[in-house]
Amino acid sequence: EKEPVTVLVTGAAGQIGYAIVPMIARGAMLGPDQPVILHMLDIEPAAESLNGVKMELIDAAFPLLRGVVATTDVHEACKGVNIAVMVGGFPRKEGMERKDVMSKNVSIYKAQASALEKNAAADVKVLVVANPANTNALILKEFAPSIPEKNITCLTRLDHNRALGQISEKLNVHVGDVKNVIIWGNHSSTQYPDVNHATVTTSGGEKPVRELVANDQWLNTEFITTVQQRGAAIIKARKLSSALSAASSACDHIRDWVLGTPKGSWVSMGVYSDGSYGIQPGLVYSFPVTCEKGQWSIVQGLKIDEFSRGKLDATAEELIEEKSLAHSCLN
Ligand code: NAI
Repeated sequence: EKEPVTVLVTGAAGQIGYAIVPMIARGAMLGPDQPVILHMLDIEPAAESLNGVKMELIDAAFPLLRGVVATTDVHEACKGVNIAVMVGGFPRKEGMERKDVMSKNVSIYKAQASALEKNAAADVKVLVVANPANTNALILKEFAPSIPEKNITCLTRLDHNRALGQISEKLNVHVGDVKNVIIWGNHSSTQYPDVNHATVTTSGGEKPVRELVANDQWLNTEFITTVQQRGAAIIKARKLSSALSAASSACDHIRDWVLGTPKGSWVSMGVYSDGSYGIQPGLVYSFPVTCEKGQWSIVQGLKIDEFSRGKLDATAEELIEEKSLAHSCLN
């Protein structure tokens, strides 16, 4: 039998936390034959609720779950962690300036970076979900210099999956037959959902999405804004932000990173830019990636047309601004 893998979920008493821990315990993140130990972190006001989640995990009698730690001590939470899913953060409240939210989260991610660096496994893989996800990941990277930069990522897989969903609905095809959409840039409304390289598997072979949709107007306008604004649409409908889809996509992100992407397909991940596609090195930016043996690499050589170029640069601009705002909050 395999050795258990220790998975940390921060903010585990929150909405996404409540949705993701049973998925992890059932094997949706690391596979049906991989035992797991769950470490759940939240803050003092949520301690009792967190303990309730632990009670339910015990009650659900998951065969793969070999241990549960529920704690408000960040060092205890990070001990020996192999996978860290960072969901905990300070939410934007009514009347708060962007800078105030940024400042709260930047200090949380600075502190948690040090705790991970001191206590986690040397090859820990980190996924930041909490917003502003790209910039939180960047701060975490800066304050955990011994964790390789390749091991620190942020979640844009939800946006990627939303794009697959929209194409599937439009064409009335199975979502599993659609692949190779791309989310470029920031997990925010400036992200660019790109279908120029996406295909659908049909009875007549693989066909480009552009050819099948045959409505450039829809693809260049409504499709993009629907994906960009899907988070707000969910909040409007549920009066709560997306949680089950965020949790499920976070599992997809880690599963593909650890176990590999299927041959011929890629996924979107927020990763540290190496300058690919002219994106300033040192930003955490969402790119198309393939994964093999636990390592991601950016898909190279895709043709970027003029329309796309403008969109790739606009979302990079926003990330440059966020980065300097984050640094000004730290000073
Ligand atoms: P939530 O408010 O229900 O849960 C957040 C939890 O984090 C709370 O239990 C809170 O007590 C905890 N927390 C706050 N500060 C903490 C700290 N310093 N250490 C540990 N835990 C801490 O929020 P929800 O809906 O679960 O969302 C979590 C985050 O994920 C938000 O920042 C949200 O904006 C973001 N998000 C990101 C998505 C993405 O695609 N990247 C998609 C959906 C949400």
